[in-house]
Order: sequence, then structure tokens, then C-alpha cells
Amino acid sequence: MSQFLSNCSDDALATAAQSLLEGSLVAFPTETVYGLGADATNWQAVARIYEVKGRPSDHPLIVHIADHKYLEQWISGIPEFAIALARKFWPGPMTLILQRSKIAKDFITGGQNTVGIRIPDNSLALGLLEAFHKLGGAGIAAPSANRFGKVSPTTAVAVKEELGEFLADTDLVLDGGQSEVGLESTIIDCTGDLPRILRPGAITIAMIEEATGLKVFKSLGNQSDDFERENIRVSGSLENHYAPRAKVFLDQQPVISSGFIALEDIETPDGVIRLAAPKSVEEFARVLYSALREGDHQSLDSIYIVQPTGDGLAIAIRDRLVRSAKGPT
Ligand code: TXA
Ligand code: MG
Repeated sequence: MSQFLSNCSDDALATAAQSLLEGSLVAFPTETVYGLGADATNWQAVARIYEVKGRPSDHPLIVHIADHKYLEQWISGIPEFAIALARKFWPGPMTLILQRSKIAKDFITGGQNTVGIRIPDNSLALGLLEAFHKLGGAGIAAPSANRFGKVSPTTAVAVKEELGEFLADTDLVLDGGQSEVGLESTIIDCTGDLPRILRPGAITIAMIEEATGLKVFKSLGNQSDDFERENIRVSGSLENHYAPRAKVFLDQQPVISSGFIALEDIETPDGVIRLAAPKSVEEFARVLYSALREGDHQSLDSIYIVQPTGDGLAIAIRDRLVRSAKGPT
């Protein structure tokens, strides 16, 4: 069983950074969801991420860094529009896919010539990353800290529930409270002429177009929520992902004793258990994963969800909902 650290001081973060350097895993909060971190240049440590998550080893990982100055070593080139995005939205809930450099090995990129990079916007994450860079670390590889195909954790307790039994005594879980955004980062492929969204998130199409002055690339039949991902291994793009144990139904009349999630102004139907009543789309994103977990805690068979409408963050929420409704992998 791993060690659990709350109220992390600078000393605690330095200790955690040292553990990473020695090949241990450190789960840490980010503003999107909690990540399961390892030294991104240590193949044995990275192999343990796959083991603990139960994730196929050809799925690439995102490398987290503390500052723009650590970007260069990971990449072999960056287009103007990606520089504009990095300047505007980092630190923040955005991952850029760029041409990799030599230190981005196949065990990080899943054998692709690209690497995913992110600067998270969370003081604990940044403190840990800074401490790690100070020890000479290049970056922290971190997928969401859940078992493969399951719901991402947005609290340290949820990380323990997901991974506790698979972590070693020398691994750490840093507790930084609840993740602010609640959905994984927007992933933007920056290897073509135009930015292309591989996974929608809190950095929206409108924000990307505004920051770059470019249109986000969409292929045919891909007008709305359906993001193109062919030939690119994005595990979050698998159809059945983000799934709780309960069966998820979207926009249907709930049966008695099932769970129910909808915006606050939608009334609770008779005989169901209201798991969340968010006041806004932002709150919907923030509480969604913990509400799905709560449904599992209550051993509900089914959870009925009324999808939020509209653009922006609602697109990302619907993306995850549609996948979680397909059931567990
Ligand atoms: O918000 C987030 O992005 C969280 C926090 C911890 O940073 N991380 C996260 O990681 O969601 P993960 O591994 O659960 O999802 C990252 C997705 C995966 O589906 C992976 O396939 C994709 O990013 N990805 C990583 N590198 C890639 C690359 N070079 N090309 C295409 N997709 C990539
Ligand atoms: Mg994930």
C-alpha cells in the first residue's frame, strides 16, 4: 500500500520528486484530473505505470513539465500556431502533440514520432514538477490515475480506490483536494497545418481559433462532437471508456431506484437518486466523475444522465458521457 501525503510542504514535494527519480510512482493532483506520475525518461518506472493501470503498452503518455523552458528538449520542432497556444493556455488544461526529440522514447510515445506535452495549472503539480526538474528530471509522464477504461479520479481518495491495491509501499499519493476542471485536458494535434482536436476539454474550439487565428481542422462528417482520431492512438478515444460499474443511460426516462444526474433546473423524477445537480456546465464537468463514482458506492445498477446542450465545455462533457454509456472495457 502506498503512502498518502496531505498538506504537502516543500519538503514533502522534494521527497516525492526524489522518489520519482528513484523510479517510484507518484500520483498527484492536476486541475483536470489526478495523474499517475513516473520519470518520463525511466523505462522501468514507466513500465510500472502500465502495470498499475492495466493499460496496453502501446498507448502513449503525456509528459508534464513545469515551464515552457523545459519544452525544447522534448520536441524537434513547433509550428507558430502551437507557440501561440502554449503562450495563451499554459499552464492549463491543454496537451499539445508535437514532433518528438530523441529523449521522447518509444515507451512514452507508443512508437509514434510525436509526443504529448502539458504544463498543468495546479500548485501542487507545479511544485512537484519544479522539485523534479531541480534534481535534473526532464519531465513526468502521467496518465489519469485510474484503471484502464475506468472513470478518471478527481480526488486523492478516488486514486486510492482505483489504484491502492496495485501501488507499492514506496509509491506516493499526493492529496491536493478536488480537481478544479474535472475533465481531462484538451488534446490538440499540432503536427499538421491546422490545429486538430483529438480529445475535447476545457480549452474549447472557440478559444483555440481565437488564440491562433486559424480554423480548427475538422474532417468530413465531423462537424460536431465527433472528433477524428483515426491512425492516432488516443486511448481516451476508445468507444467504451470513462465507464463506472453502473450502466449509464443518456437522455432517457429513468427507472425507479436508478441514479440521476442533470443540471440543477431539471427536476428529479420520482423514485430516483439524485447524484448531482450542477448549476452550470463548468460545475457539471467538475462533479461528473465523482457523481459516477458515488453511483458505484451506492451499488446502483444504472445511472441516467441528461446531457448538457451547447458548445464549449458541453462538447467535452458529451464526449465523455457517450463513451461511458458504452460500458466498461
Ligand atoms: O488532463 C490530462 O490530460 C490528464 C492529466 C493527468 O494531465 N492526463 C491524461 O492522460 O488524461 P491519459 O494517458 O489518461 O490520456 C492521455 C491521452 C491518451 O489517450 C493518449 O493516447 C493520448 O493522450 N496521447 C498521448 N500522447 C499522444 C501522442 N503522441 N499522440 C496522440 N495521442 C497521444
Ligand atoms: Mg485516461
